[in-house]
Amino acid sequence: MFDAVARRYDLTNTVLSFGQDRRWRRRTRQALGLGPGEWVLDVAAGTAVSTAELARSGARAVASDFSLGMLTAGSRRPGRRQLPFVAADALHLPFADASFDAVTISFGLRNVADVPAALAEFARVTRPGGRLVVCEFSTPVLAGFRQLYLNYLMRALPWIARRVASNPDAYVYLAESIRLWPDQRALAAQLGQAGWTDVQWRNLTGGVVALHRAVRPAG
Ligand SMILES: C[S@@+](CC[C@H](N)C(=O)[O-])C[C@H]1O[C@@H](n2cnc3c(N)ncnc32)[C@H](O)[C@@H]1O
Repeated sequence: MFDAVARRYDLTNTVLSFGQDRRWRRRTRQALGLGPGEWVLDVAAGTAVSTAELARSGARAVASDFSLGMLTAGSRRPGRRQLPFVAADALHLPFADASFDAVTISFGLRNVADVPAALAEFARVTRPGGRLVVCEFSTPVLAGFRQLYLNYLMRALPWIARRVASNPDAYVYLAESIRLWPDQRALAAQLGQAGWTDVQWRNLTGGVVALHRAVRPAG
């Protein structure tokens, strides 16, 4: 499915999110608190639009994804060619234990077939004391806004996607997967169950997106 949307993926996101995607990516980078020279793994990086933002911190950012179509589209974009691109399944990452200072996943965890297994795999490749930030669609906090947003998601978004996206059906899936995804508290509980500690979240755009931050326990 992602191979089929790769060509116009970045543009479609920006149109459907009214340009908010750039701010969400910037906030993800800030939540990671990356220092120059640190190693950060961007799982389910797609076209590496999320990875390019991480690299602005001076950290060494690695883009990994299992869609060769997305990775190829990203590797052709100006400003991303110098990034390391790794074809990898989030459930079986080809990296040694504790090899990254931080791991992050933006708009990807919802798509992974086995979320608890992925969260455990992220912990395996993160060094003790290292950080995880999950940037994902979530549940708007205010009831009125939530209703408005759900109408947009289920009605307007598929209509717009038919006019912009290279595979509009994928965006019907997008709307449904967002609606069925756990809310902020439930996702925080899943992170805790996978062994992550100090779990916190922050809402962006009224809870349309949430950033969950957690730490891999030392020792
Ligand atoms: C919505 S895109 C997000 C891309 C990028 N992180 C961003 O912020 O725009 C979701 C990505 O998750 C990837 N994905 C889904 N399941 C995966 C898995 N098990 N392993 C690796 N990548 C996966 C898809 O190939 C797709 O590129």
